[in-house]
Amino acid sequence: MSQYEIKSISSIERRVKIVTRNNERSIMNQKLDIKELISAQKPGWSLDQRFYTDPDIYQLELDHIISQNWIFAGHESQIPNAGDFRVINVANESAIIVRNKDGKLKAFANVCRHRGSLVCLESEGSTNKFSCPYHGWVYNLDGELTAARNMPNDFDKSDFSLHKLSIDIIYGLVFVCFSDSPPSWDGAKRDLKEPMEMFDFENLKVAAEITYPIEANWKLSIENYQECYHCATAHPEYAKMHTLMLDDTKRDRVQEHMLERMESCGIKNIEIDFIDMKAREGEQGYGYSRTALFKGYKTGSKDGEAVAPLLGNFKDYDGGASDFSFGAFTFMLAYSDHVVVYVFTPVDIGNSECKIYWLVRNDAEEGQDYNKDDLVWLWDVTTHADKTIIVNNRKGVESKYYVPGPFSGMEDAESVYIQWILKELAARV
Ligand code: FES
Ligand SMILES: [Fe+2]
Repeated sequence: MSQYEIKSISSIERRVKIVTRNNERSIMNQKLDIKELISAQKPGWSLDQRFYTDPDIYQLELDHIISQNWIFAGHESQIPNAGDFRVINVANESAIIVRNKDGKLKAFANVCRHRGSLVCLESEGSTNKFSCPYHGWVYNLDGELTAARNMPNDFDKSDFSLHKLSIDIIYGLVFVCFSDSPPSWDGAKRDLKEPMEMFDFENLKVAAEITYPIEANWKLSIENYQECYHCATAHPEYAKMHTLMLDDTKRDRVQEHMLERMESCGIKNIEIDFIDMKAREGEQGYGYSRTALFKGYKTGSKDGEAVAPLLGNFKDYDGGASDFSFGAFTFMLAYSDHVVVYVFTPVDIGNSECKIYWLVRNDAEEGQDYNKDDLVWLWDVTTHADKTIIVNNRKGVESKYYVPGPFSGMEDAESVYIQWILKELAARV
């Protein structure tokens, strides 16, 4: 090697070191900036614009919030037989949930171990194997690689199984998490047992499922779901039957009427306070409460009349609807005759998705016991309206004139949600 070559290598090394040091410095500065930004947020006020537009903050959210919390992936009844599968996409990740030959539900990253193509391109179906559409590697229902053409002699297929994802089932509800150490569901399984058995969640089925793409950062979508300050102005249909936007005294009066009826309808009066997305350290948060509908409404329907057979062993309509919360992305509204599940997930920094499932008892027959259009009417019309206000919100938040504003007394849950996000991010920067 000539002297010139030696010199040039050492100068390259020096330059590499400088670039690396500069990169490290700039990452450190970014982290400092984000840390300062987080601590500058005023509790009870909306977030700074950068929380909706900054790719570094979004990346932190992907790493520490999106992939560290459970996300609803469907009801067990949607994948009843061996080989039945569903695919769920969340931001950059895609999960295959499949029932294997032993009848167990498994979840895998939908990423081929050859060169990374998506393996399964359908959103649901039934199969006895997954063949990668790129070069044809084949995986069985346990995610094990069973065939790969023209690979070297020492190639060991057992080293190339699909990555396993965390999966858990709570009374028929399937959740996945893109982390090997997800928060525990123990508290939810214990404390939600009574209300979930009451609605007989295990024996529900999905009567309808609609995905609503929303051109806005995922937090704007969930923040909107968390508050009903907008309900009176944006949702005339919802406002006719739900009492959430009433002030406390008025709501107490309607609530009284429901409480008097509950027992005779076979509905227990249970309240589980939703503390946070994390109930306790290492444990996913959950909650349950029941709120009265306006007089004359048995359920969330156009005319207030039933849209499906009563759930569980209910004897009659008490005129109420129950809210269930499951962690950070999944919320449910359980009327006496159907359950509506809302799952909010990011697509990318500026786009999110709301997937809604309508569940009825599994022996109900379409056309006879329920009609899909009547079942989905309220939350379809409400979610279309939500899409519009969320996108308008995004447009304003992206303006140079946007500055955080103060929450009303009806945006407490949104405030708790925001504080939780800030706390989770602050612990990582
Ligand atoms: S990327 Fe899947 S077989 Fe090549
Ligand atoms: Fe809304």
